[in-house]
Amino acid sequence: MKNIVIITGASGNLGKATVEYFLRQQATVLATVSPGKSLGYQVEGALETFEVDLTDEIKVQTFVKDAAANFGKIDAALMLVGGFAAGNIDNTTGDSLKKMVSLNFETSYFVARPVFQQMKTQPQGGRLVFIGSRPALRAEEGKNTLAYGLSKSLIFKLAEYLNAEGASHQVVSHVLVPGTIDTPANRAALPQEKFSDWVSPEEIAEALWYLTSSKGRSLRETVLKMYANS
Ligand SMILES: NC(=O)c1ccc[n+]([C@@H]2O[C@H](COP(=O)([O-])OP(=O)(O)OC[C@H]3O[C@@H](n4cnc5c(N)ncnc54)[C@H](OP(=O)(O)O)[C@@H]3O)[C@@H](O)[C@H]2O)c1
Repeated sequence: MKNIVIITGASGNLGKATVEYFLRQQATVLATVSPGKSLGYQVEGALETFEVDLTDEIKVQTFVKDAAANFGKIDAALMLVGGFAAGNIDNTTGDSLKKMVSLNFETSYFVARPVFQQMKTQPQGGRLVFIGSRPALRAEEGKNTLAYGLSKSLIFKLAEYLNAEGASHQVVSHVLVPGTIDTPANRAALPQEKFSDWVSPEEIAEALWYLTSSKGRSLRETVLKMYANS
């Protein structure tokens, strides 16, 4: 039976590589994009695209419940939505912190909560994968990206809590932590850097597939780092 996989942030750099990889593996992909937006690329396979504002908890809950009802199960959910903001304590206001928490944490939490509840009812459980960030783990980096680092740090704790509750239900959560991803935006922002030291979206997509397919069924490590040489 095909894997039914929710992928958020499907129009982003990591999102595109992940949707393409999962479709090549014959997964059924339920991809989300922001309201009024499209994927922005053509792809073949079992793909359904949904316009959902992931900062709206009720809308996300409806999307997940409808998906579970229509497809009969959810095997995996990949919470790829996120965004970056620079700034240390001097220039991080409460408002900028709230924006980062909404974009990086709430968009993951609002999907993870109903998905987790659905997976607990499934005999085979399921897998949730969140995308962390290195500044949340390394204070020397996080001090200059304070709101970003703080908002991503909540994801690590959430995954730990979900693993504590999900263990008896075969529901397993991971936080994949990329180093600098080789994206057009990062190449433009950091032209002096050696791009071959970065992790590619395709490498991350392959790791996400491993984690969520039968190949990774025994894996239990919560935090997985993919820094390459960055
Ligand atoms: N790039 C890096 O070097 C790096 C390093 C470490 C971790 N990460 C993390 O990796 C993940 C993917 O990064 P990326 O570079 O691929 O990001 P990206 O290209 O900026 O993609 C982010 C995606 O999030 C979607 N999105 C934003 N707000 C949304 C909302 N309210 N509702 C629904 N969708 C929304 C965007 O869609 P729309 O444009 O349609 O709104 C976009 O598809 C993020 O979590 C990021 O924090 C990135």
